[in-house]
Amino acid sequence: MFLRIPKLLNEEQIAAMRRSLDLDTAPWVDGRVTAGHQGAAVKRNQQIEELSPLARELGNVIVAELERNALFISAILPHRVYPPMFNRYGDGMHFGTHVDGAVRLIPGSSNKLRTDLSATLFLAAPESYEGGELIIDSDFGSEAIKLAAGDMLIYSSGSRHRVNPVTRGMRIASVFWIQSLIRDEYHRAQLFELDRTIQRLTELQAEPESLVRLAGHYHNLLRLWTEL
Ligand code: NI
Repeated sequence: MFLRIPKLLNEEQIAAMRRSLDLDTAPWVDGRVTAGHQGAAVKRNQQIEELSPLARELGNVIVAELERNALFISAILPHRVYPPMFNRYGDGMHFGTHVDGAVRLIPGSSNKLRTDLSATLFLAAPESYEGGELIIDSDFGSEAIKLAAGDMLIYSSGSRHRVNPVTRGMRIASVFWIQSLIRDEYHRAQLFELDRTIQRLTELQAEPESLVRLAGHYHNLLRLWTEL
């Protein structure tokens, strides 16, 4: 699946994040520290130290926005969100083709997260760098994605993907994983479609009793398929 969430962050939030990330004192380290065996062989970027106060502080801003984003909640039905990481790709940096590991330990805890979905939140204006497209392979070919700063793309963690080499400027992004309440992508898509229909019928002031019945269908399916 692909889902684009426009303007997760507003301009002030992006500017504030960039001020912190662009400081000379920001704790940038080699991106391979969090990569598995397969990823480390192809990963060439830098990231903010995962357990640093800066990563925590900026990550909390993103998670707070996710928690009140109706599109994210409805489409993803999140159970756990991995603390957002921050990475940058300067000249020549890239991340070769890989799939994301299926299970990750949440840093600083003993909790694990199944990576159903991967998220990239773009933090640099597309015109400020060349290259650096996120390429995602699907049955229909490859998709090249480069979004406005503040926009987020969510895609299946099991898909093969890569980041093209940057040839000018600096690509800066936040990346993280999500475990959904609903493991099955098809089930999740049905719930999203049903929720959208209920929202629309509510706007149209459809008959209340039928709306309650339809909401009942939604919640009974959610109850049937939820994994906690
Ligand atoms: Ni990846």
